Amino acid sequence: MFQPFAIEQYMSENEHAVKYHFAESGVHPLTFKQLFELAEVDTQSLFATLIDYPQVNGLHSLREKIANMYIGATADNVLVTIGASEANTLVAATILQPDDNMIRFRPTYEQLSGNAINLGFEVRTVEMIESEGWALDTDSLKQATDKDTRIIHVVNPNNPTGRILADKDRQALVASADSVGAWIVADEVYAGTELDSDTPTRSFWGEYERVIVVNSMSKAFGLPGLRLGWLIAPTGVVEECWRRHEYTSIAATMFSMKLADYALAETAREKLRARARRLIRRGFNTLTTALNSHPGVFSVVPPQASAMSFPKFDLPIGSDELASRLLNEEDVLVIPGTKFGIENHLRFSSALLEDHLQSGLSRFNRLITKVIAEY
Ligand SMILES: Cc1ncc(COP(=O)(O)O)c(C=O)c1O
Repeated sequence: MFQPFAIEQYMSENEHAVKYHFAESGVHPLTFKQLFELAEVDTQSLFATLIDYPQVNGLHSLREKIANMYIGATADNVLVTIGASEANTLVAATILQPDDNMIRFRPTYEQLSGNAINLGFEVRTVEMIESEGWALDTDSLKQATDKDTRIIHVVNPNNPTGRILADKDRQALVASADSVGAWIVADEVYAGTELDSDTPTRSFWGEYERVIVVNSMSKAFGLPGLRLGWLIAPTGVVEECWRRHEYTSIAATMFSMKLADYALAETAREKLRARARRLIRRGFNTLTTALNSHPGVFSVVPPQASAMSFPKFDLPIGSDELASRLLNEEDVLVIPGTKFGIENHLRFSSALLEDHLQSGLSRFNRLITKVIAEY
């Protein structure tokens, strides 16, 4: 039976009318004007571009810029897609074969595994351990991996926890994949959004021969409305995904590809990532102050990257009810942990404009104080 993508359904049903949207997983986005200025877009050249079908696998200059971000990759290793979303969808449909299973970790963004379930494949879940800083349960991973495991999926840095895999967990993941010849599909949309470092999290590309990387303009670059993403893979896989891309969308838009081409030029790219990190670092500090104002209620494994965190709470109501009361009584949208299969947590996005964040947090604080007083 078809399984909807619970977290995206929750957002798309609630986000447009809400006043304080703390459920997004990216940084506050740029306007077109800001992007045109920051990336020094040549408007005369852009205006002179025919609104034709673009190169189906992605404009060559854009694919070259993307490839430059991955050691050893060339433009032929890149397929440009409609967001990381289409890349994840293409990868599930391309790589999995009858009788295969795939492994996902939990909590995480379950886009690839949701596609696999809807295609009829078995998905095995390996839990991450909160008390160990959301470390990988490497013993469970080993046990879950067998000869039919075709994909081990990792989101690194992770959504919703913002944690980056420790070296020992990376090694265990590669060892498990290598033991059965599985693909590692690494969703790296949050690389470049680190809290304590200006160096992007190391890519899985090049770490092992069967790696597919998924990424996009939506998170570290603050441009989700471009709907522009990519996958990096060995050329044979790129071509197989490209054949499916001709069915799903033919191509991403000319406008998005052109703008992404400006945004990924080295200087612009670094400015965009620096902007994202500024918003992320300040926002998480502001959120921490708010959470700490309710002693004994919230605890959070500090995120190491991404625009969000996944605080745990100790309240007499569960996360669905808390999220619903925040929405209905205070016009504040957050994601209940249940959408990631985990109770008593909220995913909270804080890389937003400071005034907006402060105003929304004062409503959040008011509701938490009210809930505590009721019981
Ligand atoms: C981990 C992860 N992968 C993929 C996506 C989809 O991103 P895109 O906007 O590039 O389609 C998201 C969006 O939230 C995400 O968090």
